[in-house]
Amino acid sequence: MTTPPLIDASVDRTLKLIATGAASGSACSPGLESGPWLIDAAPGYGPGASNADPVPFDTPRQGELPETYRTASEAELEQRIRAAKEKLGERVVILGHFYQRDEVIQHADFVGDSFQLARAAKTRPEAEAIIFCGVHFMAETADLLSTPKQSVILPNLAAGCSMADMADLESVEDCWEQLEEIYGTEPDAEGRAPLIPVTYMNSSAALKGFVGRHGGIVCTSSNAPAVLEWAFERGQRVLFFPDQHLGRNTAKAMGIPLEQMPLWNPNKPLGGNDETELEQAKVLLWHGFCSVHKRFTVEQIQKARADHPDVHVVVHPESPMPVVDAADSAGSTDFIVKAIQAAPAGSTFAIGTEINLVQRLAAQYPEHTIFCLDPVVCPCSTMYRIHPGYLAWVLESLLEGKVLNQITVSAEVADPARVALERMLSVVPKAVTK
Ligand code: 13P
Ligand code: SF4
Repeated sequence: MTTPPLIDASVDRTLKLIATGAASGSACSPGLESGPWLIDAAPGYGPGASNADPVPFDTPRQGELPETYRTASEAELEQRIRAAKEKLGERVVILGHFYQRDEVIQHADFVGDSFQLARAAKTRPEAEAIIFCGVHFMAETADLLSTPKQSVILPNLAAGCSMADMADLESVEDCWEQLEEIYGTEPDAEGRAPLIPVTYMNSSAALKGFVGRHGGIVCTSSNAPAVLEWAFERGQRVLFFPDQHLGRNTAKAMGIPLEQMPLWNPNKPLGGNDETELEQAKVLLWHGFCSVHKRFTVEQIQKARADHPDVHVVVHPESPMPVVDAADSAGSTDFIVKAIQAAPAGSTFAIGTEINLVQRLAAQYPEHTIFCLDPVVCPCSTMYRIHPGYLAWVLESLLEGKVLNQITVSAEVADPARVALERMLSVVPKAVTK
């Protein structure tokens, strides 16, 4: 068997072991094992999967973390976080995304996917601070769904999402205007609008506001099929952003031919299409992708099947279409977790999603063989910015009465963004999990 064995449940420790030569295996970029305050100081998304994607000029940067947190040991930070959290009690709730590092996840009150966590925030209206250990768009969504008295805190402001950054309001508005010129604005005989905008949860609040204002809706990776059906009941076509892969995989499963899914490149006139292609389109796919999920390949799946003939390959729908087609199943992070929970002991899983979740699942379910399709250790480098040092910093500051790194969505954006989110909630209500 040539698949590298998992070294440790903790990706942090795994990266350090690889860097010192104490473990075999490779990381996608040197420097990942360093403190994020070193990475934050450099331009760009930093080392890791998102390295080559251009960072928009207005992406928030994190100021320097005070030295006491930069130099503290892992054990000291753990103890300080526990002590601060205990003193704060019900005043604070910590949310941790599935892709978050284990050293942070151990302190979370709720662990889940981006949508579950946004809803989890709603279950603790008495908490004055919601600390979101995820990425920027998740913290914005929590702010949209929490009460006005609550502050949502993102421990490291540089924890963005390179995919969400691939669609900005100006480019989407420009696209919309060009499409309105082709499709017009009048509904057809059945009352369906020419075009409905659908944004993936992984997008800025400004884009959620845009879809809210234009009769559109938000989707997540777990409800995208139902949301597209909702959109086609109300519109003749869909403009889907920012993730082309989730859009393509979902529309293909609904039977929409690939020829009717042109890609919209915001840097080209008409998105790089001609008018005939656009007139025939059913789903227009924005030119966005996740740098982590685009690493998965059909060759990796073939190798997993050769090494483990009984393997079940399950991938996230942000993976490219050929990968989803070659897998046994595809679904959201929550779907992946539930597939493993439901499997009989002794099952083998090759997983196509972020490594922190995969390694945690492998540690939690030792009765199964679980490994990542990508043999290279490559975490979501933006989520990875939330180091325990930042969590300790924001918690201890709360004890001193200081709210740091608050994420606030302006009322002008929040009102229509909530409309788009409420439309989604009316389509597929989802349960909150611990
Ligand atoms: P979930 O919506 O499943 O949490 O996924 C978020 C994400 O960023 C996937 O890359
Ligand atoms: Fe964004 Fe990809 Fe990271 Fe998810 S895994 S937060 S889509 S960069």
